[in-house]
Amino acid sequence: MLLAKGQCLLYNDGVQPIAEKSGSGMSNNKNKIDLNSIKIRRTYINDDINIIIDISRACFPGSLKWNALKYSAKKRWQYILTSQYVEVYIVLLNDIVAGFFILATDIPSYNKEKEKEKLQYLFLRMLSIVTLILKPYLIMPSLKKLHKIIFYKRPSMISDRITDHKTTQDKIAWAELTGIGIQYRGKGLLTIMHEFMVARCLELGKEAIGSLIDPNNLLVARSRKSLHFVKTGESRYGHTYIKYLSHPQ
Ligand SMILES: CC(C)(COP(=O)(O)OP(=O)(O)OC[C@H]1O[C@@H](n2cnc3c(N)ncnc32)[C@H](O)[C@@H]1OP(=O)(O)O)[C@@H](O)C(=O)NCCC(=O)NCCS
Repeated sequence: MLLAKGQCLLYNDGVQPIAEKSGSGMSNNKNKIDLNSIKIRRTYINDDINIIIDISRACFPGSLKWNALKYSAKKRWQYILTSQYVEVYIVLLNDIVAGFFILATDIPSYNKEKEKEKLQYLFLRMLSIVTLILKPYLIMPSLKKLHKIIFYKRPSMISDRITDHKTTQDKIAWAELTGIGIQYRGKGLLTIMHEFMVARCLELGKEAIGSLIDPNNLLVARSRKSLHFVKTGESRYGHTYIKYLSHPQ
């Protein structure tokens, strides 16, 4: 099992551990975090949705999508949490929710699923106008994003996820949105989540983990590189990084 730094119970559904590693019970030296105090479990749609909304708002303060009206934010999260192609996990530190992460296990099917909900998404987009009226500080970041999506027209930049085609899409899982509450950052939780994702992806028979990163998010880009991700392309949606699981360490 890959979770080699002490003991960490990882819960899939809140009842059954899906990965368990007994160890010395030592702390993770680098970040001084006691791994016994961490649990990772699947999200409960009714219980966790509000805390996920709060964390995602705090993590992405300039994002129109995540700072939308509560109704819209709830709807979006409901689509994500009920998708069979996406797994959302909660990270608990001493039984308190410290963060969450999304692992998209089948992006092509997820996109098809979203296509079916086109009208609902359109409705949510229209509601964004109300958000912008109520939260005008979101106007500038939203315009910048829109500008990038509309005007970056080089063919290589159109596709959102640029892989190097060594692995087919069905064999790649994507580490999507990740958010850690401000007071829990810098303790190594991103790295622990990553170890969890690798274990889960191997369990699902995936060959690689991909990640689409905002080029301005230097911390995440650096962390991906140190976790042996390689950059495979740049698009108007961000930089794509891939990690091949044949060498998971
Ligand atoms: C990005 C984020 C998830 C990182 O989570 P975290 O638990 O604080 O990260 P970790 O403690 O595991 O640290 C990851 C790396 O960043 C480094 N790091 C963490 N905090 C840092 C800080 N304040 N300054 C510099 N480096 C820092 C760590 O040393 C580690 O580097 P390494 O992999 O080279 O050892 C968290 O900051 C966050 O939620 N940010 C806002 C949302 C976001 O940007 N999400 C990611 C894109 S979806």
